Amino acid sequence: MALLEVLKYPDPRLKKRADEVIRVDGGVDGEIKKLVSDMVDTMYFEKGIGLAANQVGSDKRVIVLDVPEARRQERYGDITEEKRHKKGGNLIVFVNPVVVEASGELKNEEGCLSVPGVTSEVKRASSIVVRGLDLEGVELEIRAEGLLAVAIQHEMDHIDGKLFIDRLSRIKRDIIKRKLKKSVGAL
Ligand code: NI
Repeated sequence: MALLEVLKYPDPRLKKRADEVIRVDGGVDGEIKKLVSDMVDTMYFEKGIGLAANQVGSDKRVIVLDVPEARRQERYGDITEEKRHKKGGNLIVFVNPVVVEASGELKNEEGCLSVPGVTSEVKRASSIVVRGLDLEGVELEIRAEGLLAVAIQHEMDHIDGKLFIDRLSRIKRDIIKRKLKKSVGAL
């Protein structure tokens, strides 16, 4: 088990778009597996429901999530499964995720381990379909709604170099940024 440091706003690495993970024979390489395992440890330690690789200083398109009580439909190859889990049993690892469908609208109060002490309401799609690879390099498709859909979109923003505060109105964002600068200055 290894815990990684979670980068905080305004670290410039949070603004960089992450790179695609190259698929190798038998999935992804050992370096990515180690990264994922450390990211999962760090997410649980920090009590987050999601974490993106660039939040821990990696430049790879990898996200991990564990959204409690989330419902989702998963498809591995031809097998579709309806899943409902409790916290801790709901781990999702997505390598190179892409949103292929999005619909509806949902406003939810969001926070972020990289923007501590701040939450704000963000508008997102309420229902999405995401495709990517799992750790074995198998294509994974997830149909998600509600909080899980929100969390996936939040993490995917991270690997595109975007924070949830970038989705707020300019006025709201400026107020938050001023607050964050003050608290950084106070440390
Ligand atoms: Ni975040």
